[in-house]
Amino acid sequence: MRQHVNPLSRNFKEIERIPSLIEMFANPKLNLHLDIGCAAGELLLDLALDNTSWNYLGIEIREKLVKNAKLKVREREIENLYFIFGNANNILNDVQSRFFIENIRSISFNFPDPWFKKRHYKRRVIQPEFISFLANSLKKGSLIFIKTDVKDLFDYMDYTISIDSNFKTIDKEDFKYSESFNPNKVKTNREKYAFVNQLQIFERIYKKI
Ligand SMILES: C[S@@+](CC[C@H](N)C(=O)[O-])C[C@H]1O[C@@H](n2cnc3c(N)ncnc32)[C@H](O)[C@@H]1O
Repeated sequence: MRQHVNPLSRNFKEIERIPSLIEMFANPKLNLHLDIGCAAGELLLDLALDNTSWNYLGIEIREKLVKNAKLKVREREIENLYFIFGNANNILNDVQSRFFIENIRSISFNFPDPWFKKRHYKRRVIQPEFISFLANSLKKGSLIFIKTDVKDLFDYMDYTISIDSNFKTIDKEDFKYSESFNPNKVKTNREKYAFVNQLQIFERIYKKI
């Protein structure tokens, strides 16, 4: 079991410079998907090669993983993928991020750290203030995807997003995955693990209205 990184630690208050969209992507006009807590970025590396009509941005709090993921982007000469190191809450709240938030079409929270103890709930990446920030910053029609194998965490995330009247749940049955950031439903690493171990997966999609 890996030790979870405490996102509230002082180490993450300072954030790295965020490049402009033109520095991050060959074509900054493409639809932009943001994956929060992307770990080593395997999902995004697969997606970026598969779907060259989208740009992908990953945020991860473990610096070494981001360094390695950036190396892979360079080695494979991928032009529609960028990784940022740091606490996603601080990064998105920073004034430097305004320009790319406006371009986001969808955000995924795939298997976020659960922080089971009540006194640690504040360390969960989805917080009411963060959702209200996204409600005020995302364009109408933007989508949020959540996925986890921890029922308690799912209930918490679902409640936190659903209580904000700017978001409405989308029926998964009616959802056109082929038009989304993940048309072939590529699985994340944790999702593959959950699948092999027959763990139940809880997921939901929300639309900014
Ligand atoms: C359980 S892993 C899931 C990784 C991947 N999304 C998957 O589905 O396989 C959660 C990841 O989120 C990262 N993380 C946790 N809190 C974060 C935060 N506030 N900002 C950015 N990344 C965070 C962790 O370091 C870890 O890599």
